[in-house]
Amino acid sequence: MSHFIVGITGASGTIYASRLLLHLKNLGHRVSVIFSDAAKEVVAFEKQGKAFDLADEILEINDFFSFAASGSASFKGMAILPCSMGTLGKLASGITDNLLVRAADVCLKEKRALVLVPREMPLHAIHLENMLKLSKTGATIIPAAPHFYTNPETIEDLVDTVVAKVLTHLGVENNIVPSWGSSCD
Ligand SMILES: Cc1cc2nc3c(=O)[nH]c(=O)nc-3n(C[C@H](O)[C@H](O)[C@H](O)COP(=O)(O)O)c2cc1C
Repeated sequence: MSHFIVGITGASGTIYASRLLLHLKNLGHRVSVIFSDAAKEVVAFEKQGKAFDLADEILEINDFFSFAASGSASFKGMAILPCSMGTLGKLASGITDNLLVRAADVCLKEKRALVLVPREMPLHAIHLENMLKLSKTGATIIPAAPHFYTNPETIEDLVDTVVAKVLTHLGVENNIVPSWGSSCD
């Protein structure tokens, strides 16, 4: 069992986070969740609230006394999904004024897995530069861009095509989506 942090921001697509939480729990991992203030509203608006009951704990966004604020804590990695352009910009600039961004910054400085799933369209130059900066610093950027070649039949199946990649880059083996060349017909 490993311990992961799932950060959720106020971008659309909060179902990406609820599916990641479900799969991490099904695979036997411990999961701490951090919602930004905007995320709380978007989660409710997108009707995903109930899904987060599965979390082992919810960390308060302003609690800098949390383990998640410290490099000495032993969580394995973190995903921020969906990742707003606001949070992306803060992280790219080293502004760690809430626990979500601070925990992600800890992952970067401690060289732990940090997966970002940005959600915006279109992207302007500052968004793209921020992603490049974070990629160069060690984050993995996995855009909220699902694939269709496994013929997903439900929204959950479609969302899982992104979530499977997130799991893989957190170092979590999974077969939640058929891999290319296996059982997809
Ligand atoms: C319904 C809704 C959908 C939104 N979708 C996005 C989005 O896809 N991407 C984004 O960057 N911001 C989006 N926003 C705006 C963010 O919530 C806003 O910029 C907020 O300040 C982000 O703060 P946070 O990064 O602390 O969560 C959305 C807001 C609402 C109300």
